[in-house]
Amino acid sequence: FQPRLLAGRTVLVTAGPTFEAIDPVRGLTNRSSGKMGYAVARAAREAGAEVVLVSGPTALPAPHGVQRIDVVSAQEMFDAVMARVGAAQIFIATAAVADWRPVHVHAQKQKKQEGEGAPAIALQPNPDILATVAALPQPPFCVGFAAESENLAENAAAKRLRKNVPLLVGNLGPDTFGRDDNRLELFDAAGHHPLGSGDKLVLARKLVAEIAARLDRSGG
Ligand code: C5P
Repeated sequence: FQPRLLAGRTVLVTAGPTFEAIDPVRGLTNRSSGKMGYAVARAAREAGAEVVLVSGPTALPAPHGVQRIDVVSAQEMFDAVMARVGAAQIFIATAAVADWRPVHVHAQKQKKQEGEGAPAIALQPNPDILATVAALPQPPFCVGFAAESENLAENAAAKRLRKNVPLLVGNLGPDTFGRDDNRLELFDAAGHHPLGSGDKLVLARKLVAEIAARLDRSGG
């Protein structure tokens, strides 16, 4: 039983990978399955929130009662988030947003040219959705995720400050992509403490409870 901790609140969640087109058939992406973000969206809905899930390409069904908005690229995810963030009191960024996108998207499939070397793909940076939302004049309560392969505590604490978010969730699993379980650690202004390990939905419910408690403390 999950008490209705977030009743009356709107939660905006990003999830999944983004896909950055190179040409009509190719692109840059990553191995994010979206499972953690979908679990967070489901847990927030269970807790009574209105939930808007902005999702990159995944194979997952939308959780019951959650409004899902499908996007492909990081820029589309950015636009979808910025159009809706004004209505949200909580923003949870779980998406594995591609850091870079090709400068040129070719209109036709690029052909292999006999005798020519491999083509170079010029890249430009994508907008940082979480940092942009956190920098709004009246931001929602912002929660970021960090998957670090080394020095998690140091890197996650630094990332929290860099993105200027009150709460950052560190993924401790060596490789949680596509898995149903995870191990999470919370980083906030007071330091860090483990949230636990296990099923992503169980962890998501714990995270929702932590967020609700912080909102209540801040009077938000
Ligand atoms: O900088 P890094 O990608 O490691 O930060 C991870 C956090 O920032 C995640 O919460 C992710 O969803 C968010 N992020 C974002 N937009 C980006 C890059 C990361 O919202 N362009």
